[in-house]
Amino acid sequence: MVEVSASILTLEKENAIKTMYNLEAGKIDYFHIDVMDGKFVEKDTTELMKDYALTASHISNLGLDVHLMVKNVEKFIDEYSMLEPEIITFHIEATKNEERTKSVIEEIKNIGSRVGIAISPDTSIDKIKSYLPYVHMVLVMTVVPGKGGQKLIPETLEKVKALKKYINENNIDIDIEVDGGINDETASKAIESGANILVAGNYLITSKNIGESVKKIKES
Ligand code: DX5
Ligand code: ZN
Repeated sequence: MVEVSASILTLEKENAIKTMYNLEAGKIDYFHIDVMDGKFVEKDTTELMKDYALTASHISNLGLDVHLMVKNVEKFIDEYSMLEPEIITFHIEATKNEERTKSVIEEIKNIGSRVGIAISPDTSIDKIKSYLPYVHMVLVMTVVPGKGGQKLIPETLEKVKALKKYINENNIDIDIEVDGGINDETASKAIESGANILVAGNYLITSKNIGESVKKIKES
């Protein structure tokens, strides 16, 4: 089954609550929270995302899909733990060594969230293969992390295909999420490649009919 996680990064502040309602009514599956620290990526969205995540958890029962684009992963796991996110995803480029990566995976499990491990477009899937049996999801970035509204980089879908093949061959039960540049045209390609959770930001936020747009992604 295909699920849709709505990135609320580019939400207009004045319409935030209304758009969150519309997204939930439009049958998204998660709110995707893009936490950027101004270090791992240029932008700093820490305050805004805290605000939106808190609002989303107050007005909705949908799960939070927290995407940490930060260097100090441990600090943000701690900060978000009170919101009991459904999924917390960290970047392998941030944790770097094996010992830290394993301890971050444990920390996320300890607060009761599912664990996602993300790779940026330049990172090979070989870097994460050894962790796959211990996590619930791989987030394959289909744009360079840092901002919404970018175009999907086609080569990244080759990585999704290779990852899907690898997990099938090794009988690993894991979700594959794609993030960046998803719309009604790229969604079908991402799903064909093996993704089953699709993040969509701009495409949904600017849609005149969110329910219809969510349906288009799920049925692509
Ligand atoms: C990029 C973020 C994405 C992005 C998605 O750094 O991780 O979640 O905001 O937005 P769209 O769908 O507009 O590319
Ligand atoms: Zn994201």
